[in-house]
Amino acid sequence: MSQLRIEPLHEAFGARVTGVALSGDVAPSALGEIRDAIDRYSLLCFPDQDMTDDKQLAFTRLLGEPEAEHVTFGKTGEVTFFGTVGNVEDDGTKRGNADASTHYQTGNQLWHSDSSFREVPSFVSIVHAYEVPGEGGATAFASMRSAYAVLPDVLRETIDPLHVVHDYVFSRSPIAPVDPNHAASLPPVMHRLVRENPSNGLKNYYVGSHARSIPGWSGIDSRRLLDDLLDRATQPQHVVTHQWQAGDFVIWDNRCLLHRGTGYDADRWRRRMRQTRVVGDERGVVPGGAAARP
Ligand code: OGA
Ligand code: MN
Repeated sequence: MSQLRIEPLHEAFGARVTGVALSGDVAPSALGEIRDAIDRYSLLCFPDQDMTDDKQLAFTRLLGEPEAEHVTFGKTGEVTFFGTVGNVEDDGTKRGNADASTHYQTGNQLWHSDSSFREVPSFVSIVHAYEVPGEGGATAFASMRSAYAVLPDVLRETIDPLHVVHDYVFSRSPIAPVDPNHAASLPPVMHRLVRENPSNGLKNYYVGSHARSIPGWSGIDSRRLLDDLLDRATQPQHVVTHQWQAGDFVIWDNRCLLHRGTGYDADRWRRRMRQTRVVGDERGVVPGGAAARP
């Protein structure tokens, strides 16, 4: 019998999962339950996990193909699988509020779905928290599935056939200039606005900060619709905020959730979290370049 205990965090989505050590050999039955829980709860928090980068990467591979971290890949062509979230360097040095990397990461305070700007967006992101601020630094999650479920029928019909251009340079250049090689590696891509979970048939829409425009619509009409959908998804009844504890191992489903950082005082606190992502299985209908530009 399974040892996994799954306790829902919120009516709409999210669960706390105990009774499994993700750093060890995860039994196929437990892995199956975790996969089912991802489909059902979208956000899974496993407290008190004993983790290392090697163990995290091994677990990531159990869920699928690890995604190359796009900043390093874009700038240098080197494939690495980890992103550091927070303000602590590999050598342990802390970066403060004025640091360029801290500033760059404020872009994560815009609601987004990780890698929605890639031709193949990510399935899940996986974060292990090593050091967390004593105050602030929570991550908020919003369910576009729960928001889709309560959309007025007429809006559902409007959005059903639409596509959306997602563009990293569009979303991030207002925060900080995007390195030219990085920008060149991420041309705009197009995805369906409405997605469906293949396992349970539940639908959601798919927007966020990287969502730039709707092909065939004027800029202003695109903006109005995308902003309206974002606003609906981020109402309190569709949001779960996770206050990190050291040892938390969190998996979220980028196919249907948005998330954002809520900020913290980097001069005062250390925050060190390591992130991996798993490649999704849905390719955007039109790859990047001029063809994707409406
Ligand atoms: C992320 C992210 C926001 C935060 O890890 O992908 O967007 O909490 N994090 O800093
Ligand atoms: Mn993110």
